[in-house]
This record gives sequence, structure tokens and C-alpha cells, in this order.
Amino acid sequence: MKEGPRERWGSQAGFVLAALGSAVGLGNVWRFSYIVGESGGGAFLLLYFLIVLFMGLPILIAEFTIGRRAQSDVVGAFQNLAPRTPWAGGGYLILFGSFIIVSYYAVIAGWIAKYLVAYLSGGPATETAGDYTGYFEQFVSAPFEPLLWAFGFLAATAIIVALGVRRGIEGANKVLMPLLIVLLVGMAIFSLNLSGASEGVSFLFKSDWSALKDPDVYLAALGQAFFSLGVGMGAMLTYGSYLPRTVRLPGVASMIAISDTLIALIAGLVIFPAVFSFGVDPATGPALVFIVLPDIFGAMPGGAMLGLAFFVLLSAAALSSAVSLLEVLVAYVIRRWKWSRPRAAFTVTAFVFLVGVPVSLGYGLFAEVQLFGRTILDGLDFFASEIVLPVVGLLFASFVGWSWPRRLALREADFGETMLGKIWLLTLRYLAPIIIILILLRSLGVL
Ligand code: PHE
Repeated sequence: MKEGPRERWGSQAGFVLAALGSAVGLGNVWRFSYIVGESGGGAFLLLYFLIVLFMGLPILIAEFTIGRRAQSDVVGAFQNLAPRTPWAGGGYLILFGSFIIVSYYAVIAGWIAKYLVAYLSGGPATETAGDYTGYFEQFVSAPFEPLLWAFGFLAATAIIVALGVRRGIEGANKVLMPLLIVLLVGMAIFSLNLSGASEGVSFLFKSDWSALKDPDVYLAALGQAFFSLGVGMGAMLTYGSYLPRTVRLPGVASMIAISDTLIALIAGLVIFPAVFSFGVDPATGPALVFIVLPDIFGAMPGGAMLGLAFFVLLSAAALSSAVSLLEVLVAYVIRRWKWSRPRAAFTVTAFVFLVGVPVSLGYGLFAEVQLFGRTILDGLDFFASEIVLPVVGLLFASFVGWSWPRRLALREADFGETMLGKIWLLTLRYLAPIIIILILLRSLGVL
């Protein structure tokens, strides 16, 4: 069972930044803004906060706890902690899920990299002035160009992972995360000073309670919470496996959940004031960031600079998240086949890219192909974030809640016999599983 000394984080701060880097990604900006836009603003937001607090956070603590106790990857963790039980099958589901997510994530991140470079020279060069819809559609439907960008993005991800936990992952996050936070706060201040900004702010906070009658809104909130926190994909488990016993998990996990949510909110404060100030429909869907925002940047004095800042920010966020997803797979391959880290990183990335090809072509050549009634990318995103993530979350919650002795779970999660610890365990045992099952059944039309 022993595999030689395991890699370790250089410092607690390094680990926190890396885990935050995993949490903060396209989910906070690209996905959050269009999901809120489609799901009715403030009422959705309240639901989202509740789910983060009562389901996301407890399961995040459980995921870290499993990783640190097992000192192994997602498959090895279940094999170490529950040998010869069906739990180990869960590990393979996680590998499958992170493989899917990273392959479509890279396609979107590639688009972002393309926009970043376009803003280096003043913004996307549209054929007809201001036709950003045409620009976006022409770009994503082309067969090769988007693939090249996805390839470039994946290469950067692979290099960081190949450099190792401390030098690569921790080192990259120590640069990317501070950069992201400075840019985000600067942009929020700017956006809030636009005329008409208050409408955007009130959209974000004002509640259309009738939105809560729609069962899909609950599933969307659950999926978004898990996706944004990065919970249920083994990334936090894998990162937790490089931790020593000295780090207090509940504190670190709370910090990550709070920061991740705040960053999504600030991103909302950047995007919605601008959206309303320019009279755009907030429910534009996944293209919001690529069509609406360039429109807005184009009409603004200093917009090109702002656009550049925005896409640098988004690239940093995407890179640090993709790194964590790739690490889930690479950590497994290194242990399972005893490969060197670079060999594992580059081989896995090649396979991820292969899956990225049909995803990218889903906007051109394969536009007719539908997955769950959506484009290939949206279909994979729906399947991975609204089905796989909640199911794995359910698995983590029940594994720690039910298969570990109570005392062991409380001790390993650094709670001890505290009130909070008891609430945490009750949540893992009852609240989280029941709600996840209800929401899943309801969305499948069974309830
Ligand atoms: N949390 C990341 C985001 O918000 C995505 C992610 C999902 C990362 C699952 C790791 C695991 O974009």
C-alpha cells in the first residue's frame, strides 16, 4: 500500500491559495453570471447561499478530510480507507467526472485566451463594427482555430502540473490568485461607477420569489454551488492528500467557501451593472461573457484596457481550476502505473485534448449533435455539474457520515467533540443526502 514519500505543500498559505484557485474559476464569472441571469436574480442567490452553507461547506470539509486521512488519490483513497467495498467504485466515477469537466473547461478557457490576445491589440476585430455576435459565432464555429487555443491552454495546464505540487501548482497559484483579486476589485469599483449601475445591483439582490416554484432552479443552484466550490470532483480530496495533520480543516474550508462566494458576488457586481447600463438582457446564456461584455467594453472609454484586465483575470481563474482538475487524474496515474509526473501530466492532457475536439466542433461541424437536448458542451456541463457532482457529493457525505465511526470522523476533520462538529456530522448523515436525493429525483421527474 505504501508508495514512497508523498508530495507536500510548501506552506499552509500555499495550500489555501491552491484550493482557492481550484474553487475560483469560470464557475464564478462565466457560469455564475449566466445562471443567475437565467434563474431570476436575488431569489436564486438566497437559495445559492443556503446551499453553499448547509451542503457545499460541510461536504467540502468531508472531502478534505477523506483526502488527508487517505494520503492518496481519488481511487486510492477509497481503497485505503474502505478496502474491498463498493465505495472504491466511487473513485472511478470521480475520475470520469473530472476528465469530462476538464475537457470542456479547456475549450471555454481557449476562447478566453483568444479574447485575451484580441484585447492586447485593442479588442476583437469585428468585420462589421460592433458585431460581437458575428465575431463570436464565426470564431467558435471554425474547425481549427478554437482547437489551437484549447491546445495552448491545456499545454500551460500540463506544464504547471508536470512541475509538481510545490513548484508547479503552489507556485502558479501564488502568482495567479493575488493577480485575480486585485483585478477583480479594481473592475468592480469601475463598474459600480457606471451610470445605470444601480439597476444591475438591484437585479442581483432583488427577489423574484416565483422563480423558486420551478424545480429546475433548485438543481441549478445545487449544481452551481458544487461546481463553483469545486466540491464533488476529487480536486479538494487530492489537494487535501498533500496536507499534514497540522492544518485545521474546518477553518480553511470556511475561508475557501466564503471567499469563493464573495468572488462570485463581486464578479456579479462587475457584470450586471454593465449589462444593465447598456440595456442588455441578463438572461443571454453562456455567451454573455463573450458577446455582451465585448459590446460593453467597445462602447466604453478605456474599454479595451478593461477588456484586457477582464480576460487576464478570467484566464488566471480558469488556469488555476484546470490545474486542479488535471491533478485529480495525474495523481491517480502516477500511483497506479508508477509513471513520472511529467509523463503522466502530458499523456493525460493528450487524452483530454482528444475529447475536447468534438466539444469544440459542437459549435461548427457537429452543431446538429445534441446531448441531453443541448450542444455537446452544454450537455456535458449539465451532466457533469448537475448529475455527477451532486452524486459524488452524496457519496462523500455518506462515506464520512455513515461508514466512519462517529469519533473518528470528528477527530479527522479537526472538530473533536464540539457542537459544530455534531451539526456537521448530522448534516452529512441526513440533511445533505436527503436534499441532494430530493433535488435529483425531482429534476428527473420522479417526484
Ligand atoms: N470550481 C471551478 C470553477 O468555479 C471548477 C471546478 C469544478 C474545479 C470542480 C475543480 C473541481 O470554475
